Amino acid sequence: MEEKYEAALNCLRKYNQEHILKNYENMSQNQKEKLLNQILTIDFNQIKELYESTKNEINFANDKIEPIGYVDKSALTDEELAKYNNLGDNAIKQGKYSVVTMAGGQGTRLGHSGPKGTFMLGLNPDKSIFQILAESLQHNNEKYGVTIPWYIMTSRENNDQTEKFFKDNNYFGYDPKAITFFKQGELPMCSEEGKLLIDETGAIKEAADGHGGIFESMRKNGIIYDMQTRGIEWAFIGPVDNILVKMVDPTLLGVALDKKVLAAGKSVVKAGPKEKVGVFCKRNGKPGVVEYTEITTEMAEATDENGELKFGESHINCNLFNVSAIDEVSKKKLPYHCAHKKAKYINENGELVVPEKPNAYKFESFIFDAFDMLDDMAILRVKREEEFAPVKNAEGNDSPETARKLYNDYYGLN
Ligand code: UD1
Repeated sequence: MEEKYEAALNCLRKYNQEHILKNYENMSQNQKEKLLNQILTIDFNQIKELYESTKNEINFANDKIEPIGYVDKSALTDEELAKYNNLGDNAIKQGKYSVVTMAGGQGTRLGHSGPKGTFMLGLNPDKSIFQILAESLQHNNEKYGVTIPWYIMTSRENNDQTEKFFKDNNYFGYDPKAITFFKQGELPMCSEEGKLLIDETGAIKEAADGHGGIFESMRKNGIIYDMQTRGIEWAFIGPVDNILVKMVDPTLLGVALDKKVLAAGKSVVKAGPKEKVGVFCKRNGKPGVVEYTEITTEMAEATDENGELKFGESHINCNLFNVSAIDEVSKKKLPYHCAHKKAKYINENGELVVPEKPNAYKFESFIFDAFDMLDDMAILRVKREEEFAPVKNAEGNDSPETARKLYNDYYGLN
């Protein structure tokens, strides 16, 4: 323990983070051990670099950003649609298809304290988001005569609650053997001065490292291996917070197969320049997404000769990847984006500080930054009212109320 303490202290000194051990003497044995282990496993150099990067403005000036081509599903002829659907249907029937749900995020904006998927939507009869997803997959299992393997990415914070919720609800009738939970990675948060924070348990405060970590987590948790051994070739990776998400879409798969690309994403037409959605684009000739937090007003408002938004193909986090592409990307590093957040922490006097305004940086990688590692991908434009009912905020736009209406309208339940 003495030796470990010395090693940890040395490491902290090197990176000016000695404050981390200020309250060490008042900690329990367990807390001490956890903290030392954390210090010895954190990549402080990476955190230092990430902190330095917060001082740089996001600048696309050196990038050539252009609109991306897409297939408009509603403009396809019957023959084209049948061609794509046949290709997709066959691959699904042959057991080559799987679904991954990104459920690592917390429903903070929604004001829900549990995992987002456990949120009850107020439908009649009432259902949780997870139940809606399970029923939608079950419906496809019946249609195709298969059981689609379902992988659910959770986080350290919500994994146990998520697994318990499924168990308590008898997996919503899904075959438990076809469901695999795996946890995403985490990274320490730091203060505006680049200092790491201590959380209420005495440990270094860490937060989910964004859904871009999914590829590495899939490798580390044996998910890629599992897919490969089961003969799965495709994985649809989708969000937990869209209750009209179409996780099994033969058209999307058919387009990817037909175009011989290793990934395909769905878009809906952006509702207006200010809508909080990322937009697909070509960046230096490669597919990409410009996130709503990073787009410039000029780019968001630019229109084409028809008066339509130049960057109007909204990314709805519904993307399909070939397992070989996931394998490839899982060995590479995605860039990190920084978010300025409110983070509670324990100060050097051992007191809890609850900030009223953002006081810390959180580092996240985004799944769509992987697109740029692929030569090309297909984009399928679908209808918003058929596939996009996000549940993000407690009230107003993208709230349970708006999602419920879209859901009831789509299923004719009004
Ligand atoms: C996201 C997209 C945005 C898209 C919009 C559509 C990102 C960064 N941006 O914005 O391009 O237009 O949805 O609704 O995704 N998640 C994890 N782990 C994490 C973070 C998120 O599993 O560490 C999951 C969430 O549970 C959710 C999904 O990823 O299912 C989206 O995350 P969120 O951070 O809410 O994204 P938005 O800001 O809404």
